Amino acid sequence: MKSYKITILAGDGIGPEIMKEAIKVLKLVEQRNDVKFELQEAAFGGSAYFDTGHPFPEETKMICDESDAILKGPIGLNHEDSEKIPVDLRPERGALLPLRKRLNTYANFRPVSLPRRLAHFSPLKPEIIGDGIDMVMIRELVGGLYFGEKEVGVNDDGLRYVKETLEYNEAQIEQIVRVAFKQCMRRKKVLHNIHKSNVLKSSVLWNEVVGEVAVDFPEVEIHHILVDAAATALCLNPTQFDVMVMENMFGDILSDQAGGILGSLGLMPSACIGETNAYYEPSHGSAPDIAGQNIANPYSMIGSVAMMLELSFDMLDESKNVWNAMQSVFADGFSTPDLSKPGADVKMIKTDEFGDRVIAALSGSA
Ligand code: IPM
Ligand code: MG
Repeated sequence: MKSYKITILAGDGIGPEIMKEAIKVLKLVEQRNDVKFELQEAAFGGSAYFDTGHPFPEETKMICDESDAILKGPIGLNHEDSEKIPVDLRPERGALLPLRKRLNTYANFRPVSLPRRLAHFSPLKPEIIGDGIDMVMIRELVGGLYFGEKEVGVNDDGLRYVKETLEYNEAQIEQIVRVAFKQCMRRKKVLHNIHKSNVLKSSVLWNEVVGEVAVDFPEVEIHHILVDAAATALCLNPTQFDVMVMENMFGDILSDQAGGILGSLGLMPSACIGETNAYYEPSHGSAPDIAGQNIANPYSMIGSVAMMLELSFDMLDESKNVWNAMQSVFADGFSTPDLSKPGADVKMIKTDEFGDRVIAALSGSA
């Protein structure tokens, strides 16, 4: 029997409650397959800082290093709690970015998917959604502005200033671009390369490397599109996109917009993949304002499990079953509060009820 060690980082805010639902799904998948999931929880994020003095404690680093995959909930605190922590130890800078760097998970897959039967959740008109939205954003995750050198000080004129650097070398660009081309070969063989080469030199190099890697993938049709134009196109004509590739900061911004066109960031799971490590997390934040109320949408957390089953454990069928189960709950007319519009004809369900319904649907698909 195959056995996998999965580290559970429940995180902050709504993290623990959506993680609970994700674990239910993992347990069911374990029960009905010839596989053992060894789950180990570890402290991470703002809650870890308040409990242990560090948002990414040494013990957690060791546990992560030894695991086959990591399932991570959202992290982050409300403004007031955040202010209680030194700037560099706040959960994003003190835990999340170091996790990404440590594991070198350079390829972030953010599927943006809204099948026709869920099109009612989107703020876009039905004629724009057509047969549904189905694309994947591939975001470089361990370089660029997020990790460049930073300088803060007072200049010769007595003015406070800040300098942040956006740096990529050709090897970093090549590895993420290759991931994107390979993804294209498994999908529609159409790549949208997102850049800003009319202003940024980093994009000029990026585009050069795209051109060089393209030689190895002659079947892939490439469209180069400026990041600002891509933002507009995502609203006006999202179905033209299949695989999009972009640097770290562009990916952060456009993937949130993608959540918007689906109707909620709650529909955005993600996979962060490196050469030897992988971790899975929702693309959204920890929503401290609704934490503990059992109203958060666990779709992105359970979707991250589906991605883990496929990409870390090669359990493609069960991965598909999980996606289908989640979508069938919504297609049956249920909704979590994040997705409901005033006056909509939906049956509102809570976080745990969504999880239970996914389990029920999944049980019927064994
Ligand atoms: C994301 C998040 C993070 C990011 C934050 C929490 C640092 O917004 O995963 O998109 O900016 O990468
Ligand atoms: Mg983001």
